[in-house]
Amino acid sequence: MSGMMMKLLLLLCLSLGTISVVHCGDPTLFFTWNITYGTISPLGVPQQVILINGAFPGPNINSTTNNNLVVNVFNNLDEPFLLTWSGIQQKKNSWQDGTLGTMCPIPAGKNFTYQFQVKDQIGSFMYYPTTAMHRAGGAFGGLRVNSRLLIPVPYAPPEDDYTVLIGDWYTKSHSTLRKQLDSGRTIAKPDGVLINGKNAKGDGKDEPLFTMKAGKTYKYRICNVGLKNSLNFRIQEHQMTLVEMEGSHTVQNTYESLDVHVGQCMAVLVAADQEPKDYYMVASTRFTKSVLLGKGIVRYENGKGPASPELPEAPVGWAWSLNQFRSFRWNLTSSAARPNPQGSYHYGKINITRTIRLVNSAAKVDGKLRYSVSGVSHVDPETPLKLAEYYGVANKVFKIDTIKDEPPADADTKVVLQPNVVNQTHKDFVEIIFENHEKSLQSWHVSGYAFFAVAVEPGKWTPEKRKNYNLLDAVSRHTIQVYPKSWGAIMIAFDNPGMWNIRSEQAERRYLGQQLYITVPNPARSLRDEYNMPDVSLLCGVIKDMPKPPPFSSN
Ligand SMILES: *[C@@H]1O[C@H](CO)[C@@H](O)[C@H](O)[C@H]1NC(C)=O
Ligand SMILES: *[C@@H]1O[C@H](CO)[C@@H](O)[C@H](O)[C@H]1NC(C)=O
Ligand SMILES: *[C@@H]1O[C@H](CO)[C@@H](O)[C@H](O)[C@H]1NC(C)=O
Ligand SMILES: *[C@@H]1O[C@H](CO)[C@@H](O)[C@H](O)[C@H]1NC(C)=O
Ligand SMILES: *[C@@H]1O[C@H](CO)[C@@H](O)[C@H](O)[C@H]1NC(C)=O
Ligand SMILES: *[C@@H]1O[C@H](CO)[C@@H](O)[C@H](O)[C@H]1NC(C)=O
Repeated sequence: MSGMMMKLLLLLCLSLGTISVVHCGDPTLFFTWNITYGTISPLGVPQQVILINGAFPGPNINSTTNNNLVVNVFNNLDEPFLLTWSGIQQKKNSWQDGTLGTMCPIPAGKNFTYQFQVKDQIGSFMYYPTTAMHRAGGAFGGLRVNSRLLIPVPYAPPEDDYTVLIGDWYTKSHSTLRKQLDSGRTIAKPDGVLINGKNAKGDGKDEPLFTMKAGKTYKYRICNVGLKNSLNFRIQEHQMTLVEMEGSHTVQNTYESLDVHVGQCMAVLVAADQEPKDYYMVASTRFTKSVLLGKGIVRYENGKGPASPELPEAPVGWAWSLNQFRSFRWNLTSSAARPNPQGSYHYGKINITRTIRLVNSAAKVDGKLRYSVSGVSHVDPETPLKLAEYYGVANKVFKIDTIKDEPPADADTKVVLQPNVVNQTHKDFVEIIFENHEKSLQSWHVSGYAFFAVAVEPGKWTPEKRKNYNLLDAVSRHTIQVYPKSWGAIMIAFDNPGMWNIRSEQAERRYLGQQLYITVPNPARSLRDEYNMPDVSLLCGVIKDMPKPPPFSSN
């Protein structure tokens, strides 16, 4: 039995030895994960998938604010592998962020132990592979961070707390999809949509994904773990009250359906207030010519009767989606991970010290498809950027400030392949504009930080558009969608030194270069600002045999 090994221990500081990241007094959760290939048939066709301890999707991590997480990952695939903990801010700790710019991948047949703290965070997150196109095979799962008991949550405790991973799905293996991208083509359209790795057949024999007791209220955490498509999520006959989004308590509006873009998570409350029987939950593709749909059963305990085959309709068009985005508000009076109200941080009153405009584009380079940011299509050097910087050999591995804050006029057509790294002064308050001139929707993620999603609007951004920003109660989150021919504006306080990935959540765009890194330096090499590189860090590339640099100092 290779089940998930998990122990909850209260560690004493003395027993920690060289573990620098695990914090005294805060409980530690231990996991041992075996990453293997397996064969299952989520869409009725047997195919290769990636399992964690035999499971697809992977196990759900259930943690509480400030817990330390220790995850020993055994890579039993035939190629290097990494996981990222999407939305976990990794304070002072980009060493654990699991992207190829921050860590050497775990070689096939080897293991690596991630150690990080879910510091001052609450909410609904997920983890997934960042190497190759592994995310197309699975190895993703939910990661929840519960509030500590002493911090009030702005709603009554639900009867149960469910994780719903929705995503588009390809029947081709991750290696076939990768070959397609390597040969210069797109991965084209997915073959279906899965909910927690399944799609109900509707033949009356489907097992329920979730059960509810009539009269009770349940929390559902919905994350889009897919590769490409925005999905609309809804439950027959049931309303959803939005309570949290990527780590923030929101104003509790009620929705019939929610658009969840790739990489995003939302938590809703659902009251089991309908006739006790089965109902379908539905996730269907948005903004696509032909609609793909996945469904799963929600069953009332002791209920009678099958789910109606009549599925609730999805909204049409992206104006609806934009209006929904605008309805999402930060609850200013509720506390999040700490006792002070969320709204006590007046982000709208902080002066912007820098504006970075990022333009995404698709172009052919030597006949092959590439995606870029402001004219640069990122490639991962063999030496992770963070390690090159730490060992003082950054100039041998990458150039800094490859892109300008103002994109070049020909950023849509002229594309250079190289590592894409931007230097960002520690503690600056920065505005980033995502400019989407393309006809497709984009979904952007920032690692290491939460940002304020202050505006998404159609058309071209100009400085005058700042008057339209929500400077009061925009949601603090980590992923933002930008509609076709539109722009999105976010604000970030760059208070977390490290090497941080800004990426398209759309897997083929990220794989083909639509990402960059922001390095927030720690020039004083101070432990107050950043942890030392862990002793267990894997080494690769030019730093592999170099002497270890002196550790950061404690002053
Ligand atoms: C992982 O699973 C594989 C295949 O089931 C097995 O051979 C291997 O021993 C397992 N490794 C660990 C560390 O559990
Ligand atoms: C998750 O953790 C919380 C806090 O330790 C606990 O109360 C709850 O029962 C756990 N839920 C599951 C599904 O394990
Ligand atoms: C690999 O796993 C072993 C056995 O659990 C553990 O002792 C060791 O620390 C792990 N290695 C790394 C680099 O995490
Ligand atoms: C915001 O949170 C408070 C708890 O501080 C709660 O009482 C209130 O209902 C929430 N407001 C909305 C609009 O959801
Ligand atoms: C922000 O900038 C304005 C105008 O330059 C200045 O008057 C104000 O003091 C600044 N505020 C802060 C908090 O630095
Ligand atoms: C990055 O910016 C800092 C100022 O924040 C500066 O001191 C440093 O020299 C810059 N690094 C590079 C490599 O340009």
